Amino acid sequence: MTAVVTAPSASEVPRLAIEATALSKRYDGMLAADSLELAIPSGQFFGLLGPNGAGKTSTIHMLSTLISPTAGEARVAGYDVRTQKLAIRGRIGVVFQDLALDRMLSAAENLRFAGLLNGLSRSEIKRRSGELLEIFGLSDRRDSPVASLSGGMRRALDIARGVIHQPQILFLDEPTIGLDLPNRRAIWRYIAKLRATLGITVFLTTHYLEEAADCDEVAFLSSGRIVRRGHPRELVEQLGRYVIEVETERPAQLAQWLEPRLGQVLIEADRLHFLCNEEPAQLVSLQAELAAAARAVRWRRPNLNDVFLWVNRT
Ligand SMILES: Nc1ncnc2c1ncn2[C@@H]1O[C@H](COP(=O)(O)OP(=O)(O)O)[C@@H](O)[C@H]1O
Ligand SMILES: [Mg+2]
Repeated sequence: MTAVVTAPSASEVPRLAIEATALSKRYDGMLAADSLELAIPSGQFFGLLGPNGAGKTSTIHMLSTLISPTAGEARVAGYDVRTQKLAIRGRIGVVFQDLALDRMLSAAENLRFAGLLNGLSRSEIKRRSGELLEIFGLSDRRDSPVASLSGGMRRALDIARGVIHQPQILFLDEPTIGLDLPNRRAIWRYIAKLRATLGITVFLTTHYLEEAADCDEVAFLSSGRIVRRGHPRELVEQLGRYVIEVETERPAQLAQWLEPRLGQVLIEADRLHFLCNEEPAQLVSLQAELAAAARAVRWRRPNLNDVFLWVNRT
């Protein structure tokens, strides 16, 4: 029997929501994305992390078919980003760094407009809008013009707009940028609710590394290259139990003195970082010993920011 290779049907969800092989984007000789390899299972919460300019937006733009890759391959929802753009666009939702809302329209009208653009019927739009306004805590602001909503509410509405057509995959490009902590927390809660209610694959980019702690997998991007990937908690645990921070006016000198005892040092301006598994009792004696040589000695649990700092050190 001969097997016939066909594209997946509309209702079929492939095992891998996103796959990329050697995916690259070059701008004027500069590689914004350099040979990316991705295999993101359907339903996963994936985080692409990295500082400004790392290549996060370029990657989202390639995967959402807005720009063409310079080299390499990618499939999204089972379709090729070069040759099957329309099939992909119907199956993804994209929330860009800049809001895509009409400020003069109300919250509900923005959702209705997005629904019409995506070919939904009036009754579908009504039902979906009601559900989404509820999930995003906007039910009582449904008739308020966007211009009158707070920054956090606009962000929430923009994400609701991105999922009105029930996409299989949602791309979120720095959804919390510019928001204060309570509003960022609210956005994380909405994303968790969306995942729980829709079972949707979420591809998130952020440079606030702590907000990727709930991801199933993260990849650290540095100058266009993935330099580390894994489960956030495992990546953090691999660093050890504590990070010791020593603040000093003489970082180079103190680093040389402490390195044989505390292991590899990472120097950040006037601050030395060491990774260690020592007991707090021993750390207290270190603190006493350094009382004269250092301005401060602290220790704390490592986090995803430390993972990124240490990856870039070596
Ligand atoms: N259209 C473009 N033309 C030229 N360079 C670009 C363009 N878009 C992005 N870049 C460059 O590519 C690099 C990655 O940018 P970007 O993907 O926006 O990173 P991030 O989203 O992580 O901040 C940056 O150095 C940026 O200046
Ligand atoms: Mg960006």
